[in-house]
This record gives sequence, C-alpha cells and structure tokens, in this order.
Amino acid sequence: MRIVLVGPPGAGKGTQAAFLAKNLSIPHISTGDLFRANISQGTDLGKQAKAFMDAGNLVPDEVTIGMAKDRMAQADAEGGFLLDGFPRNVSQAVALDASLKAEGQQLDGVLDLEVPEDEVVKRIAGRRTCRNDSSHVFHVTYSPPKEDGVCDVCGGELYQRGDDTEETVRRRLEVYHSETEPIIDHYKAQGLVVTISALGKVDEVTKRAMEALKKSS
Ligand code: AP5
Ligand code: ZN
Repeated sequence: MRIVLVGPPGAGKGTQAAFLAKNLSIPHISTGDLFRANISQGTDLGKQAKAFMDAGNLVPDEVTIGMAKDRMAQADAEGGFLLDGFPRNVSQAVALDASLKAEGQQLDGVLDLEVPEDEVVKRIAGRRTCRNDSSHVFHVTYSPPKEDGVCDVCGGELYQRGDDTEETVRRRLEVYHSETEPIIDHYKAQGLVVTISALGKVDEVTKRAMEALKKSS
C-alpha cells in the first residue's frame, strides 16, 4: 500500500503515521525526520537542509527529491510506504507521480488531515521531541511523557524543536498554504484525496483515518 499524508505543521502527521504504519505494516517515511537525522549526524545533506528548516522554508527540491526517492526505493521491499511531509509542493508531487509510473506503481490514497490554525499553534507550542529519534513525539499537556523531559520509548532527552518558535511556525503555515495545499487539488484531480478531521484524541483520529483509507482503496 502507498499512502501520502498531508496536513499543516502540527496537525499530527508524525503522531498518526506511527500508528497507521504499524496497522498497515508499511514503513513510515518522514522527510522532516530524515533531515533531522542528517543534521544530528552532521552529514553534508544535513548541513544543506539546516538553514532552510530553521527559517521555516522548504529545503530545495534538488536535495529533497533525491533523498525521498532513495528511501522509497528501500521501501519497495517492505510492501509500500506511508509518506509524511513529502510531497510538499506540486513539483515534488509531479516527480513522485513520474517515479511511481516508471515502476508501474501508483498511490492508493492521499489522507488530508484538517485542523484549525489555533489548535495547530497549541500542538506545536507544547510539542517535545526526542533527541535520539525525532519520530518519538510528546506533548506537555496532551500526551506527556511518564518522566518530565525523558522519552518513554528510548530514554533520550526531550527538547523543543528549533523550528517550533512562534515566528518560524507562522512562516511554516504560510509555506503550507502557498506551496503544499495546491498538492491537494493535484491529487483530487486523480480521485485520491480523503479528508478527515484531526481533532479529538489520538486514537480517535487513528480510527477515523483507518476507516477513511479502507473506503478509499
Ligand atoms: P516536518 O518535520 O515535516 O514538519 P511539519 O510538516 O511542519 O510537521 P510537524 O512535524 O511540525 O507536525 P506533525 O503534523 O508531524 O505533528 P506531530 O505529530 O508532531 O518538516 C520540518 C521542515 O523540514 C520543513 O519546514 C522543511 O524545512 C523541511 N522539509 C521536510 N520535508 C520537506 C519536503 N518534502 N520538501 C522540502 N522541505 C521539507 O504533532 C504535533 C504535536 O501535537 C505533538 O506534540 C503531538 O503530541 C500533539 N498531537 C498530535 N496529535 C494530537 C491529538 N490528536 N490531540 C492532541 N495533541 C496531539
Ligand atoms: Zn526517544
């Protein structure tokens, strides 16, 4: 199964992707997590991405598309993928369509998570991320870790992401509206989009998402 997850920053894409990927037995591929892993390992790719991420802008397509394709090529052997944060503009969507077509593959669905902007701001302000693995995500009020400042999964230190400042979040939301939202129409034209509300408890949203994906595929 090949699914794309779309939604504004802080919508809960990473949180939902972890559960959906497990339920569907496919790997979760997050370009944001891949960039953050490269930054913490000090790779050239991480060095190229960092300034763009800190400013809340998109990392250039030349860097992003190659990295995403490399990871997707590995996922072929794992039964598909759940893409989180890619594609993020129309040119990335066109590149993804072309590379799937070249392999005789297609997407099964695009899950669009809808959340009002004031909720997104609350979710991002309280988010705490694990230094060891940025897919380990908590929230100080909504899903607090058992021990303050410590990751439940691996014991790593929890921190507030550098791009979670008020100013950068405002920029990320602008970029979402201008660059990422148009991919929803791109995929609507292919009849692939299912939109759900991402409000409510995490497990309620997962249930809603699984039902929507079942209906769409
Ligand atoms: P990325 O890491 O993809 O960030 P994002 O899209 O801004 O999304 P977030 O990680 O902020 O939020 P999320 O929707 O995953 O929410 P989460 O589950 O954490 O990208 C970062 C940067 O990398 C970009 O700005 C760009 O520079 C670069 N980049 C990445 N991909 C790129 C690409 N393809 N092209 C170019 N550049 C790219 O949840 C948020 C919080 O809410 C958490 O604390 C969570 O615990 C809480 N929460 C989740 N669900 C609920 C719920 N139901 N109720 C209450 N709280 C909840
Ligand atoms: Zn951790």
